[in-house]
Amino acid sequence: MTNVHVELGERSYHIHIAADNLRQLKTLLPDLNKNVFVLSNPTVAKHYFAQVEEALVEHHLVLFEMDDGEQYKSLSSFEAITNKLIAEGFSRDCAIVALGGGVVGDLAGFVAATYHRGVDFYQIPTTLLSQVDSSVGGKTAINHPQGKNLIGAFYQPKAVVIDLNCLATLTERDYRSGLAEIVKYGIIYDADFFQWLEQHADALSKRSESALQYAIQRSCEIKAEIVAKDERESGIRAWLNLGHTFGHAIEAATEYGDWTHGEAVAAGTIIASKLSEKTQRMSSSDFRRVLNLMSTLQLPTQAPNMAFADWLSYMKRDKKVKDNRINFVLPLGLGKAEVTNNLTDEELAAVLTECC
Ligand SMILES: NC(=O)c1ccc[n+]([C@@H]2O[C@H](COP(=O)([O-])OP(=O)(O)OC[C@H]3O[C@@H](n4cnc5c(N)ncnc54)[C@H](O)[C@@H]3O)[C@@H](O)[C@H]2O)c1
Repeated sequence: MTNVHVELGERSYHIHIAADNLRQLKTLLPDLNKNVFVLSNPTVAKHYFAQVEEALVEHHLVLFEMDDGEQYKSLSSFEAITNKLIAEGFSRDCAIVALGGGVVGDLAGFVAATYHRGVDFYQIPTTLLSQVDSSVGGKTAINHPQGKNLIGAFYQPKAVVIDLNCLATLTERDYRSGLAEIVKYGIIYDADFFQWLEQHADALSKRSESALQYAIQRSCEIKAEIVAKDERESGIRAWLNLGHTFGHAIEAATEYGDWTHGEAVAAGTIIASKLSEKTQRMSSSDFRRVLNLMSTLQLPTQAPNMAFADWLSYMKRDKKVKDNRINFVLPLGLGKAEVTNNLTDEELAAVLTECC
C-alpha cells in the first residue's frame, strides 16, 4: 500500500492507494463519524456500495444515489441531496462520503462544504480521473447552465481512499479519459514521469496493476506538492489547468454530452502544446512526443471544428478570465509550464484552425 500525504497544516490528510482498500475502510478511516451519508450513483453503487457497507458495519449509513452524468452536477441535485440530509436528521457531526467519479466527488464536496457550514468529508474516488485528480486538492463545485464549476468552494477531504480494484469495471472510454490527466502531470511538472509514461503506455492501456499503482501514486504526489504550495490557486496551481480552458470550451460547445472531461482535456492539451511550439516555448520534437503519447493512449488529439468567435465566447466564460483577458497555461518544454495572457488573436486563431 502507498500513502501520499497532502500537507496543509491542520487541514492535512492522507491519500491511501492500494488494491482492495474498500475492505480496509474501517482501519483507514479510524476517526469516521457514526452517521455517514454516502453519495454515489446507480452505476457505481451496484458494484461497490455493499463492500463499503460491510467494512463500515458499525456506522449508520444512508446511501443517496444521484443520477449518473455531468448534467446532474447541478443546483437541483444539490437541493435534492440537502433535502435528504435534513429529512434523515443528519446534524453537524455527520460525515459525507463520495463514492464515485469526479461528478459525485465534486458535488459531495460542495454539499459537505455548505451543509451546516461544513461537515466532515471523505473521498472514495472510483474513476481513474478522480483517483489522480479531482479527489485531491479540495476543489468542489457544481455547474451552472452558463458554465462549468461556476458555483463551488475550496473544501479539503479528511482522507482519500483509492482502491485500484474499482478500475476493473470502468468503461474503456472513461478509463482512457483518466490517462489524459496523468499525462498532464508529466508535461507540467515532471519530464522523467512523462518519459516513464511513454515507456509504460502499453502497460497502462492494459490496466496493469503495477503500472497503475505507480502512475496514480506519482500523479497524487505531484498534485499534493502543488496544492501544498498554492492551495487557492494564486500561482502554480493554475498549471494544473493545462488544456482545461480549451477543454471546457469543447465540453460546453458539445453540451457536456459528446466529449468526456478527459477527452476534452486531451484535445485541449494538444492545442496548448501547439501554441507553445508556435511561440518557441516548446521544441517541435517535444510537441511530437506529447502528440504521440496522447495518440498511443488513444485519446483525441483534434478538437471539434468551431468558429473562432465561438471559441472566444466559451473561453471568456471560464473562471480563468481576468479583466476580460483569458489566461492560458502553456507548457515550457516538458516538466514546466507558465500562465500567460499575452497571446494575440492571430496566434490563437491560427493554432485553433490547425488543431480542429
Ligand atoms: N475537483 C477537481 O479538482 C476536478 C479535477 C478534474 C475534474 N473534475 C471534475 O470531474 C468530473 C469528471 O470526473 P469523471 O471523469 O470521474 O466522470 P464521472 O464522475 O462522470 O464518471 C464517469 C463515468 O464512470 C462511471 N463510473 C465511476 N466509477 C466507476 C467504476 N468504478 N466502474 C464503472 N463505472 C464507473 C460514472 O458513473 C460515470 O458514468 C467533471 O465534472 C470535472 O469537472 C474536478
